[in-house]
Amino acid sequence: MPFLELIEIAKRYPGVVALDRVTLSVVPGEVIGLIGENGAGKSTLMKVLGGVIEPSAGAIRVDGVERKPFTVGDAMKAGIAFVHQELNVFDNLDAAANVFIGREPLAGGFLKLIDRKKLHAAVRPLLDRLGVDFAPDTPVAEMSLAQRQLLEIAKALSLNARLVIMDEPTSSLTLSETDRLMRVIDGLKKEGVSVVFISHRLNEVETCADRVVVLRDGRMVGELDRAAITHDAMIRFMIGRELKALYIPPAHERANGTTLEIEGVRTSAYPDEAVSLKVRGGEILGLAGLVGSGRTELARAVFGVDPLRGGGLKLNGEPIEIRAPREAIGRGVYLVPEDRKRAGLLLDSSIARNVSLPDLRAYARGLLVRNQAEFDNADRQRKRLNIKAPSVKAEVGTLSGGNQQKVVLAKWLSMRPKVIIFDEPTRGVDVGAKHEIYEIMRALANSGVAILMISSDMEEVIGVSDRIAVMHEGRISGFLDRGDFSEHNVMRLAVGVRPNS
Ligand SMILES: Nc1ncnc2c1ncn2[C@@H]1O[C@H](COP(=O)(O)OP(=O)(O)OP(=O)(O)O)[C@@H](O)[C@H]1O
Ligand SMILES: [Mg+2]
Repeated sequence: MPFLELIEIAKRYPGVVALDRVTLSVVPGEVIGLIGENGAGKSTLMKVLGGVIEPSAGAIRVDGVERKPFTVGDAMKAGIAFVHQELNVFDNLDAAANVFIGREPLAGGFLKLIDRKKLHAAVRPLLDRLGVDFAPDTPVAEMSLAQRQLLEIAKALSLNARLVIMDEPTSSLTLSETDRLMRVIDGLKKEGVSVVFISHRLNEVETCADRVVVLRDGRMVGELDRAAITHDAMIRFMIGRELKALYIPPAHERANGTTLEIEGVRTSAYPDEAVSLKVRGGEILGLAGLVGSGRTELARAVFGVDPLRGGGLKLNGEPIEIRAPREAIGRGVYLVPEDRKRAGLLLDSSIARNVSLPDLRAYARGLLVRNQAEFDNADRQRKRLNIKAPSVKAEVGTLSGGNQQKVVLAKWLSMRPKVIIFDEPTRGVDVGAKHEIYEIMRALANSGVAILMISSDMEEVIGVSDRIAVMHEGRISGFLDRGDFSEHNVMRLAVGVRPNS
């Protein structure tokens, strides 16, 4: 017997049909994999289930009884916990306070102060269950994206839910954190708790799902039971065709272009370690390593966001100084950042404005921004990256997660880069769009651009790179040439073991 039923749910936005009569029921203790391309309607469907948005049509039944309206409070009462795709943590609180926000145990007494001791004691077992490495009193502002994601999951676990919705829970987790989450999901299932698991990492879906539901353009286009869940079947339903090769082979002859040398650079994350590496024009150098190994900090230092604590940079052999992103951009050195919300995008501006932002001067005549040029360029990028939106005037905040990531890319690709650092370029992006992004990266390399690609997706690092550099605890633990590429070799270096020992 299903305890939750969504019947013929529709959701329309101006110019967009986000959901078109979707019917889905949830049985206790089952894990449903929910997949589909960027903008297919996955998050929207889950927001309806979480009471966050009201459907334009359709019914919701809990234990056989129709509930209308269905608010966030109703969803909580029905035992639905939600790990959102866009993280909802409160920056000014610590980890424990975030887990229990609004439900803090109160100490006795007139002032009803929040009992911090009790709070921390209650949060500890949840953090242990996820195997996290931070203390309950860690301020959220100091936490990495991965830690924030784990914190959201801890919060969902604390609710003793009947259904836990996980919208892209692993997009910034490491392999071992993901493994542990898979075990947590298994444990929930054994306790009779249901899980809806949304991910673009199809192997995770394959690992944990009892059945897979596929959305395309707001419609349910397929359902696979356990025995039928394979990569090929999932991709076929998602994009409506086969995808032969996801990765683009390197060109035979390497283009000449700009070479970036990073020489003895120290960052504030690891001031005692010096990093040296060279990215040649025409190549894609993959930068692998565990989350926290210092890759993002290195990228930020090179781009001038954070000051260098030592060492220097050279462009084509010439020493250069970059003290601010503006200077980096002036030299053709770009960073496509990891955290689009914090560093990448203005969510309440249009796609067009976001795309033209780093280079507004190119569109400005006097003080007026030439809207037409801005729109034309943004529209070219929208088509190239297949960004799903009614027009480039749409606010970026209304786009689906993966489409927001494409806007970040569009913004940098519309300029003339010499060196680009991509930090997790395909996080949250569907397979079809991944393929497009790899094509663009390879085309840039073939035109002489030097590309440094930070990625925690092992398959991607191996599939896309010409060479791989691996970082471990703030230093380079080794380089691999294509002939030596293997998950095993990358992993050994990432955990700090020398290749041939
Ligand atoms: N508030 C809104 N206003 C207008 N359109 C919206 C709004 N929220 C969602 N949409 C649109 O609804 C469609 C479905 O979006 P949704 O976020 O559900 O996609 P998704 O399947 O979760 O994609 P992704 O894999 O990229 O996260 C998209 O076209 C999106 O732009
Ligand atoms: Mg989504």
